[in-house]
Amino acid sequence: MNNTHFHSLEIDLYNVCNARCPLCHFRTHYPEALKTRQELDRDFLENALADFTFERIHLTGDLGEPTLSPHILQVLHFLRERDPNVFICINTHGSTKTEAFWRELATALPRSHEVVFAIDGLEDTYSIYRVGLRFKKTIANARAFIDAGGIAGWSFIKFKHNQHQLAEARTRAAAMGFATFHARESYAEDETILRADDYVDNHDETAALAQAGAVTVVPKLFPYIQADGTLYSCTQSNCGRYDEKIDFDFDRLDLKSRTLADCLAALPDYCTVMQQTYPLTCARRCGEFDQTERPRGAEIGYGRRSKTT
Ligand SMILES: C[S@@+](CC[C@H](N)C(=O)[O-])C[C@H]1O[C@@H](n2cnc3c(N)ncnc32)[C@H](O)[C@@H]1O
Ligand code: SF4
Repeated sequence: MNNTHFHSLEIDLYNVCNARCPLCHFRTHYPEALKTRQELDRDFLENALADFTFERIHLTGDLGEPTLSPHILQVLHFLRERDPNVFICINTHGSTKTEAFWRELATALPRSHEVVFAIDGLEDTYSIYRVGLRFKKTIANARAFIDAGGIAGWSFIKFKHNQHQLAEARTRAAAMGFATFHARESYAEDETILRADDYVDNHDETAALAQAGAVTVVPKLFPYIQADGTLYSCTQSNCGRYDEKIDFDFDRLDLKSRTLADCLAALPDYCTVMQQTYPLTCARRCGEFDQTERPRGAEIGYGRRSKTT
């Protein structure tokens, strides 16, 4: 395949985390995914992504904390070298390593980037959900990152214990130089992200809402590489290997032994199995994979941001 361009790619570099958030999806639902340490490095990505380009790359850390990856700086240098115009977004809890690391992170990222710090509360409430982490350390790291030229977002998941602090957090974010502030709902304790009984085929309805500008339409395929090297069609379908209801030959999605083109070709079969088990409500029509048909103006995740210098 020759230089195929995709809108977006999500990568989980590492499946380790130093926090114990009570509702963390994989910790609560698929703990076996975290039993063995898994990590992706520069060489893996160089090989797997050859001949493919991406407008945006998200280091999401669905299974863990991306900044704990021993390879993250090397990976960022590599991604920036292969495409200086790529937009990179990192989701982090921010409470790792040293301030020096966070300064280095700011310089390793390409011009267009956003690092979203999950800071759910202030001094007296932050550690209620972010168990094992310290507010002071997170803030000091965020400050080091921003002062070194990094573009940062503050994500605030609302809970009963912290919702009264939302306005104060927003004010502090602006004062500290965070570029964005995202107030988010928490998923509930007794729900999974995929609730089979809630899901209906609403593609036509979604299309109508999109036309009216009421919803954001995402691309049809949002490829996601898990830390063990498995390719999935999106982060909502990423539990397959650990879900006993999903009957699929995961060797077909293994990027450690197959090319990205081969794994992409196997995804429609995986999505069919996935949809039969957990029908999804989303704008993507899983199983249709031509990202080149991305709707004009469609945006996903966080906005594209660039350093001005
Ligand atoms: C598993 S975390 C990995 C990244 C990083 N460790 C973090 O927590 O930001 C992936 C995403 O899930 C979000 N998340 C964690 N708990 C959540 C909750 N109860 N409700 C909604 N999102 C949550 C995180 O903030 C993050 O954006
Ligand atoms: S910080 Fe992120 S990865 Fe770690 S336990 Fe919390 S939600 Fe999970």
